[in-house]
Amino acid sequence: MCDTPKGQLLSRTLAMPSDCNPNMQIFGGWIMSQLDLAGGILAKEISGGKIVTISVSSIEFKKPVNIGDVVCVYGECVKIGRTSMSMELEVWVKPINDDGIKERYKVCNATFHYVAIDSEGRPRAINKS
Ligand SMILES: CC(C)(COP(=O)(O)OP(=O)(O)OC[C@H]1O[C@@H](n2cnc3c(N)ncnc32)[C@H](O)[C@@H]1OP(=O)(O)O)[C@@H](O)C(=O)NCCC(=O)NCCS
Repeated sequence: MCDTPKGQLLSRTLAMPSDCNPNMQIFGGWIMSQLDLAGGILAKEISGGKIVTISVSSIEFKKPVNIGDVVCVYGECVKIGRTSMSMELEVWVKPINDDGIKERYKVCNATFHYVAIDSEGRPRAINKS
């Protein structure tokens, strides 16, 4: 197993009790939201303007996330089309609790797709230079 995150660190936050599912582990929808925000930041930077999420082609939750974990999203742009961008994203957690800081591990990977849009919400060509 690869033990290094792929891509750059895009976001970091703390998993809170309010983000839990009924099993008292972190809700998958909250993790998807963190992925979408992080990929969206990268898409805005690459396209230099407004973007929207158009699709998610894959997502895999490999391990649960627990309250108090530091949740980090890493990622990279793997494709830039005329108006669209594809991001491979990974979520890693670093548990910090009474026993101290534990080694980080990957909990999720996903591929998100974004489209650059203009002020009317229409697809906008990305300047690749
Ligand atoms: C995103 C949106 C502007 C695209 O408009 P559209 O007229 O359907 O756009 P097009 O068919 O010209 O496709 C635009 C690009 O998206 C790509 N695309 C279309 N469907 C796709 C899909 N399901 N997955 C990935 N890429 C897709 C196209 O290949 C094209 O890429 P390219 O220009 O790099 O070749 C429009 O569908 C939209 O507003 N969707 C709602 C977005 C939204 O509300 N997201 C949630 C909140 S952010």
